[in-house]
Amino acid sequence: MPSMVVLISGSGSNLQSLIDSQVSHGMSIKAVISNKAEAYGLVRAQAAGIETFVISHLDHADRDGYDQALGERLQELDADLIVLAGFMRILTPTLVNRFLGKMINIHPSLLPHYPGLRTHARALDAGDQWHGCTVHFVIPELDAGPNIAQARLPISAADNADSLQQRVHRLEHQLYPIVVQWFAEGKLQMNSQQTWLDGQLLKPQGMVFDHE
Ligand code: GRF
Repeated sequence: MPSMVVLISGSGSNLQSLIDSQVSHGMSIKAVISNKAEAYGLVRAQAAGIETFVISHLDHADRDGYDQALGERLQELDADLIVLAGFMRILTPTLVNRFLGKMINIHPSLLPHYPGLRTHARALDAGDQWHGCTVHFVIPELDAGPNIAQARLPISAADNADSLQQRVHRLEHQLYPIVVQWFAEGKLQMNSQQTWLDGQLLKPQGMVFDHE
């Protein structure tokens, strides 16, 4: 069975959705790596019998040193896919290029809108009608790799940043396992900074799923 490594920094609710859907997405979780020892996602992983590693940024003098240690661990684990699930670190181009086409991220906005932080408040401030989350391949530029899939929802007049965050988080939990399953089935490739699914070039948004 193909395998993946999941990288986290915090609660790990996306990790939990990947654990819960392991049978349907057909990819085993070989290990979970966190840059923070207190990340609750480590508890989730251990409860599921998954090996965990803490590679703390506090143990490394600079970003290059950290990414070297992370890269060595990833190389040893030799998984088919590296899944960033709330991993709150900017990765160096050297590390990203080493695993190009094998590393994906989930981001709480409809990329290319709102890379970075405070995505829900920014969508509200802009008066957007739609918001959601994106799974994309990781490239050296932050939150900029080619999209694979988006889940969208209409922003309602009653929404605030907290309610939007919760609504989008629920979509993330549905979307990530779908994308992982495509990868497990060998349907997903990144080529020339574009995403191919089932041999078809995807449009820039990726595959879009609309929700209420
Ligand atoms: C998610 O909103 C994800 O999109 C972002 O970080 C958050 C992680 O949440 N990259 P969790 O730790 O999976 O609950």
